[in-house]
Amino acid sequence: MTLLGIETSCDETAAAICRHGQILSSIVSSQIIHAKFGGVVPELASREHEKLLNLIVHESLIESGVQKQELDAIAVTSGPGLAGTLLTGVSFAKGLSLGLNIPVIPMNHLEAHIFANFLADPTLEYPFVCLLVSGGHTQLWYIQEMNQYQLLGETRDDAAGEAFDKGARILGLGYPGGPAIEKEAKGGNPAIYRFPRGLMGKESLEFSFSGLKTSLLYFMDDFQESDSMSKRDVIASYQQAIIDTLVEKMKRALNKTKAKTCVIAGGVAANKCLRDHLAVSLPNTRILFPDLSYCTDNAAMISYLGELKYNSGEIGSLDFGVQPNLKLA
Ligand code: KG4
Ligand code: ZN
Repeated sequence: MTLLGIETSCDETAAAICRHGQILSSIVSSQIIHAKFGGVVPELASREHEKLLNLIVHESLIESGVQKQELDAIAVTSGPGLAGTLLTGVSFAKGLSLGLNIPVIPMNHLEAHIFANFLADPTLEYPFVCLLVSGGHTQLWYIQEMNQYQLLGETRDDAAGEAFDKGARILGLGYPGGPAIEKEAKGGNPAIYRFPRGLMGKESLEFSFSGLKTSLLYFMDDFQESDSMSKRDVIASYQQAIIDTLVEKMKRALNKTKAKTCVIAGGVAANKCLRDHLAVSLPNTRILFPDLSYCTDNAAMISYLGELKYNSGEIGSLDFGVQPNLKLA
C-alpha cells in the first residue's frame, strides 16, 4: 500500500509518500510571500500552491524512490482551511487520480494533526486527550478510538496560534508569530509581568485569548524599553500566559476524563517551552508530541491517516468538494 498525501489548507504546499505506516518522504514549502503582509493573503496563497504543487509532488516521489504508477491512492486535505487553497489541492489530487486511475480520499486536516502523534510513537494507545493548538483552532479532544472523538472544550475567540501571531504583531516581531515569540522570549524572565490567563472559571475547559491580546496592546502603548524594563521579559511573560492557560486546561481535561495519556497537535505544539511545562506539570501522565516537522502543516500526517482510512474501507467517490468549515465531530 503506497499513498501520496497532499496538503494545501493554508500557506504550506506539502506532499508526502507513506507506505505501510512509514513516511518515505515529506516535502513542505512554506510560502514566505505572506511575511511582508503580516498574515496569510488567501488569493496569493492559492496562486503559490498552483505554481508549486506539481513540483512538490514530483520531489516527494523522487525522494521516496516511488514511481507514480506504484501509488495505490491519494489522500488530500478537503477541510478545514481556506476555500481557494483547498481547491487547488483537491483539484490537483482529483486530476492525478483520474490520470492514474486510483482513488482519492478527502481528509480532515484537524484529524490528521491529531494522528501525527502516531508517527511519533506507533504504540500510542486509546483513549487519550489531545490538545489541538493551531493557527485557527484551540480545542481539547477525548479520543476514544478512530472516528470516536468527543470535544471537551474549545476557544470562544482567538486560537492559541492567533494569540502568538497577533501578539507578535503588537510586539513588532515577524510572521508567523509563534516561532518569533519563542525565539525572542529566550533568556527573558517570564515572571516579571503578569498578563491575564483566560481560565474561564474553575472547571471550564473553554479557552479565551482575546483579553490577553488586548492587555498586551494596552501594555505596549506605555512601554519604553530601558535598563530596568526589558522587552525580552515582556515577550517571555506573554508567552508564559498562553502556556499556563494551555497547561491548566490540559490538567483539567485529564482530571475529567481520567485518561493516562495526552498528546498535543498543531503548529503551537512545536513550542519547546509548552512541551517542557507540560512535562513538568504532568509527571504521572504519558505525554506525546509529534516531531517538530510534523507539528506545523505537512502532508506526512495526511498520507499516514489516509492509509489508515483506506485500510478501513473509507474510500469515497470523486464526488466531494472542499469544506472550509469542516468540523471533526
Ligand atoms: O497547524 P499550523 O501549522 O497551521 C494551521 O493549521 O493553523 O499552525 C500554525 C500556527 C501559527 O499560528 C504559528 O504562529 C504557530 O502555529 N506556531 C507556533 C510555533 N510554531 C508555529 N506557536 C508557538 N511556538 C512555535 N514554535
Ligand atoms: Zn494545521
